Amino acid sequence: MKIPKIVILDEKDKRLHQKSEPVKFPLDEKTKKLIDDCLTYLELSQDEEIAEKYDLRPGMGLSFCQIGIMKRIFVVSEDYGDGTFGRYVVINPEMISHSEERIYVGEGEGCLSINRPTTGIVPRYARATFKAFDENGDEYTIRVREDISIAFQHELDHLNGILFTDRIDPKNPFKGKDSMREI
Ligand code: NI
Repeated sequence: MKIPKIVILDEKDKRLHQKSEPVKFPLDEKTKKLIDDCLTYLELSQDEEIAEKYDLRPGMGLSFCQIGIMKRIFVVSEDYGDGTFGRYVVINPEMISHSEERIYVGEGEGCLSINRPTTGIVPRYARATFKAFDENGDEYTIRVREDISIAFQHELDHLNGILFTDRIDPKNPFKGKDSMREI
């Protein structure tokens, strides 16, 4: 078992509060390798035994700014529950449409860059359509829903220097709860 060497920045780092730059294609090999490493890291982190043994916090998404690279790239790993994972490579993304319906993570969102307890909920669109590019520079459109929709919106925020905690009203951390669906 080889855990990719990835150093994830903490929320105190100013890079996590800055906007990332659009990516130009073709990607260099180093960037492609990092994309693969990030996905492998997320997959391993979602394996309870491995996470415990190597002291990894489980995560399903990671943006390049979290590893100190200010490029508009994020990855999302979907645990299919049978030992396999879906891999989403999302470069220069745009959210082109979304549902009216909003949802939130009942237990609160998490982020590999936020290492403290947080209180409050973040309103997210239940479904959204994104336009993006893959690692080969091919454009695609994808419709995401539920937890994957939340992950995409959370990661898109990272590319714009926004953390999920920035979206929680400190005076009213559960604002709007009754008008949204909990997942
Ligand atoms: Ni995050």
